[in-house]
Amino acid sequence: MKILVIGSGGREHAIIKKLKESKQETEIFAAPGNGGIGEIAQCINISATDIDKMVTFATDNHIDLVIVTPDDPLVQGMVDALESKGIKSFGPRSIAAVLEGSKSFAKSFMKRHFIPTADYEDFTSYADAKEYIEQQTKYPIVIKADGLALGKGVIIAQNKDEALSCIKSIMLNHCFGKSGNQIIIEEFLEGTEISVMAITDGKIIRTLTSAMDHKRISDNDLGLNTGGMGAIAPHPLYTKALAKECNEKIFKPTIKGMLEEDRLFKGILYFGLMITKSGPYVIEYNCRFGDPETQVVLPLLDGDLLGLIMAVCDGNLDKVEVKQKPGSTACVIMASGGYPVKYQKSYPIDGLDQAKLISDLTVYHAGTTYDKNISKFITSGGRVLGVTAYANTLDEAIKKAYQGVHLISFKDAIYRNDIGKKAGAK
Ligand code: AMP
Ligand code: GLY
Repeated sequence: MKILVIGSGGREHAIIKKLKESKQETEIFAAPGNGGIGEIAQCINISATDIDKMVTFATDNHIDLVIVTPDDPLVQGMVDALESKGIKSFGPRSIAAVLEGSKSFAKSFMKRHFIPTADYEDFTSYADAKEYIEQQTKYPIVIKADGLALGKGVIIAQNKDEALSCIKSIMLNHCFGKSGNQIIIEEFLEGTEISVMAITDGKIIRTLTSAMDHKRISDNDLGLNTGGMGAIAPHPLYTKALAKECNEKIFKPTIKGMLEEDRLFKGILYFGLMITKSGPYVIEYNCRFGDPETQVVLPLLDGDLLGLIMAVCDGNLDKVEVKQKPGSTACVIMASGGYPVKYQKSYPIDGLDQAKLISDLTVYHAGTTYDKNISKFITSGGRVLGVTAYANTLDEAIKKAYQGVHLISFKDAIYRNDIGKKAGAK
């Protein structure tokens, strides 16, 4: 079976590694992939958003299955284009990917289907947004660009001045480009964040292990928002009772609502949840696997990812079980100094071979390339590696992940020292 995975991050590395555990014989391509992915798949130099080239590659090479992983190509209609040529694809069509592509759509959808989410107002005019903020007395307040913004389009304003300057940057200075032509201003929710990913064929939804992300750059959740600096799974606060509540109030109504609106969602649906005193709320939907959650969730999947994906494509997810392994996982992201703003690239990475010797430790590559001249991986992005460990307990998994981190080095590397602490780990 010839499989093409679109994307280039640690998430894609984790997906490909899991696919290779399948009993089915596979030949895997990644576009564009990265240095680490190049060790286990054939990397193809096509940008993840180049729909025409991707369709041509998949057709010419008789690809049996395309897994479209990142948000941009999904929202832009990569699956629509592939399926129109008869190519089997995993991921939602653009009409369903809008759940992530437009926060304004997601919020009005939740309102229509009585799915709990923060109260909000929607604005396309700067003057109206400004007038609304002038009237607000309760802070912090949350301001979100409507469209995709590399995970950076959410600002928590602590006071009126911050809120005013934020809407000016988004709506007048276009700091997120067209994504900020429309904004959402919403109520700040207090509680515990939990990420839950689910696999769905649009009718049946099966959740994977819950996870905890660490979005800020520095320890104790300080500093700028990033793509995610680490994760653990399962989330210790995601109890069976809470899972049941989320299923009834959020997961099932989402799938049902999308179906009713003729937006059948197939693929991975990611629920960013806030567990408040009055129950679970949706902070955001993503129409894809989360990063770095995937790096901690897939190693805990007991069974065949490819089988699950094929069940979605063939519409028989009802016949397949999703089983989880016992134990815990932890992933610590090593990033380039200066990330998420400005950073240098092309630094050689040392210690990867030593880290490989630790049992149940996997180093997922995100921003790396292989430099043939020096026979080493070098840094090529903001998030460079996701050092991920599996163990019987969360404490052991975290300890082991940091053992790996301490063996690996590159110039100006940064990482958080408190991954999992919020979950009560030592
Ligand atoms: P997002 O990019 O939508 O994941 O948002 C980034 C982060 O902003 C989330 O992970 C939350 O920590 C925070 N956030 C978003 N919306 C809210 C909200 N309504 N209340 C509190 N925090 C929020
Ligand atoms: N870790 C959150 C995301 O993938 O958007």
